[in-house]
Amino acid sequence: MKSAFQVFLVLVQLAVAQIAFAQPAILPKPGKITVPVSAGASPDGFVITPQTAVVAADRSLQSEADFLNSYLQKQYSLQRPRLKKGKQGNTILLSLGNASTVSGAYTLEAGAREIKISGTDAAGVFYGIQTLIQLLPTDSSSTLKVAPIFVQDEPRFQYRGMMLDVSRHFFPAEFVKKYIDLLAFHKMNRLHWHLTDDQGWRIEIKKYPQLTAVGGWRNGTIIGNYPGSGNTNQRYGGFYTQAEVKDIIEYAAKRHITIVPEIEMPGHASAAIAAFPSLSCFPEEASFINKYPSDLSKSKGGKQVQETWGVHNDVYCAGNEAVFGMMEDVLTEVINLFPSSYIHIGGDECPKENWKKCPRCQQRIKDLKLKDEHELQSYFVQRIEKFINSKGRVLIGWDEILEGGLAPNAAVMSWRGEAGGIEAAKQRHDVIMTPNSYVYFDHFQGKPALEPMAIGGYLTLQKVYSYEPIPAVLTAEEAKHIKGVQANVWTEYIASTDKVEYMSLPRMAAIAEVAWTTGPKDWNDFSRRIDVQQDRYLFWNYTAAQSAYNVKQSVQIDSDAGRATVSFTTDSFEPEIHYTLDGSEPGVQSTLYKKPFDVRRSVTVKAACFKNGKQVGKTTLQQIVL
Ligand code: ACM
Ligand code: ZN
Repeated sequence: MKSAFQVFLVLVQLAVAQIAFAQPAILPKPGKITVPVSAGASPDGFVITPQTAVVAADRSLQSEADFLNSYLQKQYSLQRPRLKKGKQGNTILLSLGNASTVSGAYTLEAGAREIKISGTDAAGVFYGIQTLIQLLPTDSSSTLKVAPIFVQDEPRFQYRGMMLDVSRHFFPAEFVKKYIDLLAFHKMNRLHWHLTDDQGWRIEIKKYPQLTAVGGWRNGTIIGNYPGSGNTNQRYGGFYTQAEVKDIIEYAAKRHITIVPEIEMPGHASAAIAAFPSLSCFPEEASFINKYPSDLSKSKGGKQVQETWGVHNDVYCAGNEAVFGMMEDVLTEVINLFPSSYIHIGGDECPKENWKKCPRCQQRIKDLKLKDEHELQSYFVQRIEKFINSKGRVLIGWDEILEGGLAPNAAVMSWRGEAGGIEAAKQRHDVIMTPNSYVYFDHFQGKPALEPMAIGGYLTLQKVYSYEPIPAVLTAEEAKHIKGVQANVWTEYIASTDKVEYMSLPRMAAIAEVAWTTGPKDWNDFSRRIDVQQDRYLFWNYTAAQSAYNVKQSVQIDSDAGRATVSFTTDSFEPEIHYTLDGSEPGVQSTLYKKPFDVRRSVTVKAACFKNGKQVGKTTLQQIVL
């Protein structure tokens, strides 16, 4: 007979199992989730109906209430709920006030009659709403039931960013908004908008319409991986008008996202130079388009918007006063448009070849007694920094701005690994970590043979998730300068909006969690939540990569025994893997994989992962010859 203590233990185990079972799939993972003790009393929890009132307890939260109402309307065709607290209806109450003083902190408490979301600030309330959204079903026809829950949450970093390159390929304003929605769903709060580069100038500047009229368009684009196999010979381009930019900034602000604009200088300047050749050290020299220039550019010669990728020698002349005048004019318009405290000036990958040959650049070096061209770049950036500071803003640039001496108040984006970020933090400058080894979302996220064309690299979901932004070598004081993290979507090989989504998802969920969640990591739990999030991406109408579901096959051959042992893994949660040995495509009816198995003859193993009766990820193949 069981003792009372044993019975008690069993009950505790049952209760724990139930709590574990009830764990919702919230991404990024909140600081604390508990199920209220009263849970058992109202198993149905809260149900959102057309009678539910979304009440903003503070007038300043009306925008958040509107956001939630629009979401319910859009995703569940829920008629706009009444805004006044109803007698018979239940209420979602949004209010200010929180035990935490951290911007973005919130609590969410769901009972049977009321859901209370309370934030330190409006951003906190907004993030509480994002959490609520993730407690709702991922199909539009189910009951909107919220099981009893208490969530207490706050962000680890105040800068949680994604960078989108719209120069290499241009994406319409509507898509930029759809992308901003995605950031908001992940509680990200910065969109770094890479607006200018060699291959296109994408923001209207009223004083210099040629920047977009000429610099916004290229005569063609190389085909395939650099240096390519030809040229499309198709005019390509586009730009955002200032009216569109304002609209996008406002749209982002409602979602508590600040847009950090990037205007590249002194390198990556071919598009501007095509519009204004005098910005170059050598205005008469034709642009060099490696290997496959378009027919038109070949025949016309002169300065051209770049058609190929990489780093280009034709940069802004650092010895020409007019260059600074024009950069200041451009930045004035940009600063007037964007409320962001950070103004990004690029600063990366500026070859010094032209400066070494340019009489004006060399004169500047002599006049200012500079050591070399790196110090000339530093002079360029410091001068621009003074201007940006004079407008009350902070200059941020890629880590090359450290070379030749960092501008006094500049912040650094560390992209060539973490070394630049570490150096800047040691110099007491603010840092955003964005190392190419962990957060370059233009890299392959699965086995290259199974993925669409990418620039290279190999960056799995799991690797992104493993990133720790505070380097162990920093002291606590230095570490305070690591203000956050950002992942970058460079678009040389991303021409469509679907592919932007594919390369961003689900990896954005991993960087969002790195940026938001404090405390130890748990890959298994993360992959459990990602499995649900994949359904949500579909529900939200985004194209997410399923690469983590691809079955990795491993085979051990024992020739003497005439036997091969086959095992399968994926990077997904509790995968349902089916396989065949006769070369046919696996389906749900094919053999279910349970554990490593032996084969004793030559076979072709084909395996794939399934979820809700449908294949997810690609079929992988392994030929075994015995
Ligand atoms: C960079 O990837 N050139 C910042
Ligand atoms: Zn020059």
